[in-house]
Order: sequence, then C-alpha cells, then structure tokens
Amino acid sequence: MHAIVLPKPGPEPEALQYREIPDPVAGPEELLVRVRAAALNRADLMQRRGGYPQPGPKPEHEILGLEFAGEVIAVGAATEGFAPGDRVMGLLAGGGYAEKVAIHHRLAMHVPANLSWVEAGATPEVYITAHDALVQGGLVAGERVLVHAVGSGVGVAAIQVAKVMGASLVIGTAGSDEKLARAAEIGLDIGVNYRESDFAAAVATETGGRGVDVILDVVGGEYLERNLKALAPKGRMTFVGLMGGAVTQVNLGLILAKRLQLRGTVLRARPLEEKAYAVRAFEKSVLPHIASGRVKVVVDSVFPLARAADAHRHLEANANFGKVVLEC
Ligand SMILES: NC(=O)c1ccc[n+]([C@@H]2O[C@H](COP(=O)([O-])OP(=O)(O)OC[C@H]3O[C@@H](n4cnc5c(N)ncnc54)[C@H](OP(=O)(O)O)[C@@H]3O)[C@@H](O)[C@H]2O)c1
Repeated sequence: MHAIVLPKPGPEPEALQYREIPDPVAGPEELLVRVRAAALNRADLMQRRGGYPQPGPKPEHEILGLEFAGEVIAVGAATEGFAPGDRVMGLLAGGGYAEKVAIHHRLAMHVPANLSWVEAGATPEVYITAHDALVQGGLVAGERVLVHAVGSGVGVAAIQVAKVMGASLVIGTAGSDEKLARAAEIGLDIGVNYRESDFAAAVATETGGRGVDVILDVVGGEYLERNLKALAPKGRMTFVGLMGGAVTQVNLGLILAKRLQLRGTVLRARPLEEKAYAVRAFEKSVLPHIASGRVKVVVDSVFPLARAADAHRHLEANANFGKVVLEC
C-alpha cells in the first residue's frame, strides 16, 4: 500500500514522505480497512516534530493519523458487529495516513448514510474528544459554556455538542471575526475575537457577572488566570490542549473562593477499555444527531494523501475552520 511515513521527525512538513510499504496485518480482534479518508489533528504536528511519539513499541514505519473512514476488507475471528464491505470510521493511535489500516473493532463505528467519506474521516477524534471533555466537565442542560479556539476541529465539534447536551449559552473565542462568523452559523451564541477583546470581560458582560459553568480549554497556561475569572461559582474546566503553553503562574485563591474544579484529559494514551467507552458514549449521544443532520461535520479542506505535507502546512498556519482531510 501507499502511506505517508515519518522516517525521521522534523520541523518541516517535508519530513512526511509518500512511500510504498507492506500492508498492515490485522489481529483477531481487528478489522482490516481500505481507507478512503483520514483527517489531520493538531497532535499530528507535534508528532511530526518528534514531540508526541505513538505509544507502545516503535513501529517499523511510523505513520501519523488518529482517525479515518473506509470500507472493511476483512474481519478478525474475534471481532463483533462488522462485515466486509461495511462503511466504518474510528479512532487510531496512529496509522491513518495510509491506504489501509487495522483497527480494534471496539474503536470502530458504522458510518451514518448521510456522511461522505471525507466527513466520516473527519469525525471520530474531535467529536469524541469534545463530547468526552464536556461530559467530564459535568455539563448539564441549561448551563453556560465557554469553548476556546472555536475554529479548531475540536472547537467546531464542541459548540455543537454543547448545544445537543442542552447548553443555554455557548460563548467562544477565536483569532478572527471570519472564524467567529462561521462558528455562529453552527450555533455559537457569542463570539469573542481574542486579538481584540478580553474574553473574561466579555463573559462577565454576557452572563450578568455570573460567569460560565463549564469551559473546554485548548490553550492552557496563557488563558488560565482569565479562565478562572470567567468561571461561575462551582464552575468546571477541562483542559484538552495546551497550545498557549503548559507553564504559568496563577492565583489559586480564585479556585478556593469559587470552589472550582479543573481537570485534564487525553484520548490517545488511554487504555482500550476507556477509549471504547468514550466511543460508545459518543455513538449513543452524539452520532444520532450527526446522522439526522442537526450536528454538522465541518470540513475546511481536502488534500490527496500524497500531499500530506501541504495539508500540514495549512493546519500549521492556523488557516483552517474545521477539519483538514486527506483523501485516498
Ligand atoms: N486531549 C485530547 O484527547 C485531544 C484530542 C484532540 C485534540 N486535542 C487538542 O485540542 C486542540 C485543538 O486541536 P485541533 O486538532 O482541533 O486544532 P486545529 O484544527 O489545528 O485548530 C487549532 C486552532 O487553534 C487556534 N490556536 C492556535 N494556537 C493558539 C493559541 N496559542 N491561543 C489561542 N488559539 C490558538 C488557531 O485558531 P485561531 O485563528 O482562532 O487562533 C488554530 O487554527 C489542540 O490543543 C489539540 O492538541 C486534544
């Protein structure tokens, strides 16, 4: 098969190379799938640079790619619920940027009929991350939510998942008015351009001084102090990314006084059981809304597999609204 391999990590997208390598071998609990589309994630940029290696033993060919959609070619003897020819999508620890992939059957899902290959390939990682983070944040109907980087793959998913979970108000930040306008089309109630305004002040204005109940944060250090100010009493925040740095200094008094809860989360490094649980929770609570068209999978751009380096350049320039996808 053809795949994009990473022979040696590097700062330039050209570290990614289009090569012919042996097909993956699927184990008894795995499905062998012919990949039609695989999407990029921010973590892929870190992995390309060598800062986020795939967990487990180093594979002979390192292939990036945390999610994909395609057709089942063969099913292992110990798999359940899938047959050759099925349209599937799923979560991977790596291997998506390739014409074929092996996936544990418990991390795979059937693709709803209304999704194209490209849309399906862009769904699992960010929708499961956003849903899981909002569930961990204890979001219940009627609460107010703040989502950072609403133009990111995770942000686009989080706005819509928060609405499906019954959020009464979704406030979001982004670095351009254009991204905020597009986010409004998929349900964002209040957009804050972080280059022009202080989001904590905007949250105070929009919530009558009370703050938001839940924050889904992907920025980390740079935003922590303002996030603590933006949270309502007994507010909860889930960190899913640290794009603005991992180290900061903060006044812990706000956490005590407002009785706040802060937690971090990752998806890729979790044990199979926990990942499978997150997949099933998404399948039950969010996928029906994607299948009905209420929740949209937003695709920013599509590149042929062989042009993965260009796709990385696009993501790295923060030029995307929604997902950047590789088509096989
Ligand atoms: N924990 C997990 O399991 C998990 C899973 C998936 C993703 N993630 C994390 O979620 C985050 C988003 O990932 P993604 O793949 O959805 O991202 P993405 O599609 O690549 O979008 C990232 C966007 O974030 C904004 N941004 C970049 N640096 C920023 C900064 N320092 N401060 C504020 N905004 C910044 C940019 O938009 P603007 O134009 O608005 O600046 C950029 O376009 C990443 O941190 C990623 O590692 C975590």
